[in-house]
Amino acid sequence: MEHLFNQDSEIAQLIQQEEERQHSTIRLIPSENYVSKAVMEATGSVLTNKYSEGYSKKRYYEGQENIDAIEDIAIERAKSLFGSYGANVQPLSGAPANLGVLLGLLQPGDKIMGMALPHGGHLTHGWKVSATGIYYNAVQYELNPETKRLDYDMIRDMAKKEMPKLIIAGASAYPRFIDFEAFRSIADEVGAYFMTDMAHIAGLVAGGVHPSPVPYSDVVTTTTHKTLRGPRGGLILMAKGFVTKVNKGVFPGLQGGPHNHTTAAIAVALKEASSDSFKEYAKQVVSNAKVLADSLIEYGFDLVTGGTDNHLMLIDLTNKGITGKDLSSALNKVNIETNANTVPFDKRSPMDPSGVRLGTPAITSKGMKESEMKTIASFINRVSQSINDDEKLNKISEEVKEFSSKYDLVF
Ligand SMILES: Cc1ncc(COP(=O)(O)O)c(C=O)c1O
Repeated sequence: MEHLFNQDSEIAQLIQQEEERQHSTIRLIPSENYVSKAVMEATGSVLTNKYSEGYSKKRYYEGQENIDAIEDIAIERAKSLFGSYGANVQPLSGAPANLGVLLGLLQPGDKIMGMALPHGGHLTHGWKVSATGIYYNAVQYELNPETKRLDYDMIRDMAKKEMPKLIIAGASAYPRFIDFEAFRSIADEVGAYFMTDMAHIAGLVAGGVHPSPVPYSDVVTTTTHKTLRGPRGGLILMAKGFVTKVNKGVFPGLQGGPHNHTTAAIAVALKEASSDSFKEYAKQVVSNAKVLADSLIEYGFDLVTGGTDNHLMLIDLTNKGITGKDLSSALNKVNIETNANTVPFDKRSPMDPSGVRLGTPAITSKGMKESEMKTIASFINRVSQSINDDEKLNKISEEVKEFSSKYDLVF
């Protein structure tokens, strides 16, 4: 960062500090990851200098020969990796991807049905404070109170009663496989469009360790920066008959010029995600999550649904007599990053909920395997017993730093 240090050392130093922080912490936030140097180079390229409103061969600005080629490659790679009919690589991130689809397929005020935020859904699945809940008539399904899992009979009953125009599957904090085929049949029964938001699990789907929503969904949206390990961005996969409408929803419906540097980095990430080593990575993410979950259970932690099928887990801390914020801030003090999270049917407020959400995508990118998961579980257990004991937390912090700095990116 030679030029940056010369021109703006204040920002350069903060970036450098963040780099060091990311190196020395155990990053367990399940929506975060580390990208490759190749992805980073594409993101930091001259493509940021170019405006390209429109789509390939139909742009509103001249000088698009390289941009069109890059966007065409990204689209082809997305279609081939996920087996979809069409792809749009322009959404600026996951939230714009979701809103772009709604704009393309629906009229304001139409009814949509998504998973409630406190049960693990995302804001943009119709939660009342999001544009998707303000401009659409959103109803929200919840988890089964006994199993804390999706209950397809409950979802079907609700869909039949509410008759939504579009049903959304997908979540930000759900540790189990989702039955996309069941959602498809519910959508067909009520004549609704079926959209899946696979932001969290896209890398697992690409790596073949999570069932794919693509064969069952009219539209699949995703972020590109979580398990997929690309730049911050969004991607929409579309079945036949949906491309024109959804593309119009994204541009001109929602956005202006695409971020071409991000498009190029998405293309690079999709190439990486098609490799055998990425398949190994995805497998390891899931295997690590299972071992971390089992080890936490051995320490007496109560995991929502008793474990995980994917990359994340939710600890309900009620039995430990501490809150999610208590544990996530104590973990932060020892350089273990997590986030406090509501658990299904939480009686506490979202600002200080009962749970903590953990995941393995970033630590797996750093080369950690099953044995490291056991060490991390023991750190978490010790921290949970030392919430207000700064002396003990300082000692654990030193151990975490030493442990974490031994690992570097392995791709
Ligand atoms: C399921 C899901 N969809 C959409 C998003 C939104 O992505 P972004 O924050 O990049 O807009 C997220 C982000 O966490 C998510 O978990």
